[in-house]
Amino acid sequence: VVLTQDELKKIAAYKAVEFVESGMVLGLGTGSTAKHAVDRIGELLRLGKLKNIVGIPTSKKTQEQALSLGIPLSDLNSHPTVDLAIDGADEVDPHLNLVKGRGGSLLREKMVEGACKKFVCIVDESKLVNHLGGSGLAMPVEIVPFCWEFTARKLQNTLEDSGCVAKLRNGAKGEPFVTDNGNYIVDLYLQKSMGDLRAASDAILRIAGVVEHGMFLDMATTVIVAGELGITIKNK
Ligand code: A5P
Repeated sequence: VVLTQDELKKIAAYKAVEFVESGMVLGLGTGSTAKHAVDRIGELLRLGKLKNIVGIPTSKKTQEQALSLGIPLSDLNSHPTVDLAIDGADEVDPHLNLVKGRGGSLLREKMVEGACKKFVCIVDESKLVNHLGGSGLAMPVEIVPFCWEFTARKLQNTLEDSGCVAKLRNGAKGEPFVTDNGNYIVDLYLQKSMGDLRAASDAILRIAGVVEHGMFLDMATTVIVAGELGITIKNK
């Protein structure tokens, strides 16, 4: 039987939910993989198999999903320490560094996952790359709308050694895509590896106008990969 990509996502998500215990404060991820985990947490609460869970959603979309499932919600102001977050990723490198934010939720994801004792990342095997940016798909950066072209050009120049092309992300009607925080996203397309990721991260964050980027360096404590041949669990 060949499993679909969505079935693999669900397998990884259900495996991650096995790490959830009653009484936990949980970071609830965003995207098509994390959605399965949130559904499963809602189901286990409804069945009484989990109790006293508090969810901290990483996007408005996940907040709506969690509310519809009856998962009690809070925020980082009231719960500055999160026991466990479960979220997907767009790319995972061999050191468990991630690219996230193709769904546009990278800022809240980084805030919540940065406040976690454990961050379990869930992916199907198509997300594995040799180096970040290596899928040829976008590396997202959230920027303020003010003079976005200026900031996009600065981003492109900063990563010019990687053959970077910066493009503003558009919504369905060709208008700029707007994040939950009222910002824009610039997608960076890289022809070559960024080399020292920490240096690239620092250089990007030094640009005034940049709010946050989608590289999640040294943040995932576990990555669960679902593939045709089964589940692989990689720990830091
Ligand atoms: C949301 O902004 C993203 O960081 C997602 O977590 C990531 O894009 C993974 O999404 P999928 O599970 O839909 O691939």
